[in-house]
Amino acid sequence: MNFELKTLDLNAAAALKTDVLLVLVSAAFKPSRNALSELIVQARKSGDLDSSPAKMLSLWRAHGVSAARVLLVSSGEGHARHIRQAVTAAVASLKAASPKSLTLWMEDATQQRLHAATQAVADTSYVYTATKPTAKASLLKRVVLGLPTATQTQNAKSDFDHACAQVCGVALAKEWGNRPANHATPSMLAKVAQTLGKRPRVRCEVLGPEQIHKLGMGSFAAVAQGSREPMRFIVLHYNGAPKSQAPTVLVGKGITFDTGGISIKPAAGMDEMKFDMCGAASVLGTFEALARLQPALNVVGLIPTCENMPGGLALKPGDVVTSMSGQTIEVLNTDAEGRLILCDALTYAKRFKPRAVIDIATLTGACVVSLGHVRSGLFSASDDLAHALEAAGEAALDPCWRLPLDDDYAEGLKSNFADVANVGGRDGGAITAAKFLQRFAKDYPWAHLDIAGSAWKSGAAKGATGRPVGLLLHYLLGLVPKPASQAQAKSGKTPTRRRTATSAA
Ligand code: BES
Ligand code: MN
Ligand code: ZN
Repeated sequence: MNFELKTLDLNAAAALKTDVLLVLVSAAFKPSRNALSELIVQARKSGDLDSSPAKMLSLWRAHGVSAARVLLVSSGEGHARHIRQAVTAAVASLKAASPKSLTLWMEDATQQRLHAATQAVADTSYVYTATKPTAKASLLKRVVLGLPTATQTQNAKSDFDHACAQVCGVALAKEWGNRPANHATPSMLAKVAQTLGKRPRVRCEVLGPEQIHKLGMGSFAAVAQGSREPMRFIVLHYNGAPKSQAPTVLVGKGITFDTGGISIKPAAGMDEMKFDMCGAASVLGTFEALARLQPALNVVGLIPTCENMPGGLALKPGDVVTSMSGQTIEVLNTDAEGRLILCDALTYAKRFKPRAVIDIATLTGACVVSLGHVRSGLFSASDDLAHALEAAGEAALDPCWRLPLDDDYAEGLKSNFADVANVGGRDGGAITAAKFLQRFAKDYPWAHLDIAGSAWKSGAAKGATGRPVGLLLHYLLGLVPKPASQAQAKSGKTPTRRRTATSAA
């Protein structure tokens, strides 16, 4: 999908050759003297269009407009959430018409509105086809985002680039999240990372079983030992700044299927454990976005990836394993495997002398109980890091909520047979999981995102969401020092920006 940013007043929008013209109308819309304004005024007068968000009026061959279809859609007060609602409803209503081009006109664009609009177009027209060739792929190839004045387009430029990169990152995360476990094995995820490694400023290294054992990652290796699929440890580098700049490290949980192991899960709904690599997918998606934007930053991505299977060779409840940190772990429940693979990656992260380490994991069902499917769980002992991630989540419409890390929550992790047990009691399960990880993340500022409730949707709309790529990208771009000249951007006369936002595979 190709996104373009263009200066379009309503006259120009009416004259534009496009299959569909989608006009977002907020409560504050000020009509001017042109055909579209006239239509909007009439529609409002007659009560066919009111200002409640996503209220829509569809017109066919409207007088004075060259697009065959015009959709007048109310964006309520113009909040980003309303824009997302409005664009989602409008694009969904076009499914049967399957347009090839779409022009989306907005009165004005804040960063949040741009993100909401572009992401909503992409999300609503996304069709999963990798293992369903009969699914009708979207034909939408060209999306023009129109803003009324050249100053507005000029000001929106960098936010628009960011939004397009995010769309691509989210698409990659969704695509790999959705693929079933036999089409998204650890080796296949490693291939995706290696392909990313060919992009400018990106480098990829993939470690196999022998190297992983050699590093002493006994905890990670223990989870993988019950599966025929060989484990992989993926190391991605994005180097956009001098070597002297400490990197941010992202660690993604890459369990390509979680049966629970010997502590096996119930059959109902187990298929959804193909999504247990969505943390890993979000790291890959974030690298896709970085590769497109090329910001002045250093980022490292670490992905421990394997299956969690039962079998004759599998890890057993009560087994004690030695982590790379040297701490021994009593595995009381083999279904608490995420923390077992992440702890070794957190130890590995030390070597980069990071400015911060953020792990992203579909870690606990308890987090879903706490926060549902709206906000991801956030844990951090660093107020600065927590606040920055919270703010990034709000800005990207990819919100999280901070939960506590009091030491008293770690009581249940005590073991008579090892330094630590891998599970505490049932109560406060998302927090005890975070307390377990914290033991391995003492040497740098650290945050943990539990995305068990936000990474995918169940039910009729079952599918990966691509979260929290938006949050992560926002946070990372916030670390880039802003050149003083940026505020003084010269008013050029090239208001058209082309961006290709396609391809997940
Ligand atoms: N991948 C699951 C967490 C999960 C469960 C995410 C359901 C989304 C929906 C994780 O590996 C797991 O099984 N966690 C256990 C931990 C427990 C054994 C302490 C859980 O949440 O039940
Ligand atoms: Mn599990
Ligand atoms: Zn899991």
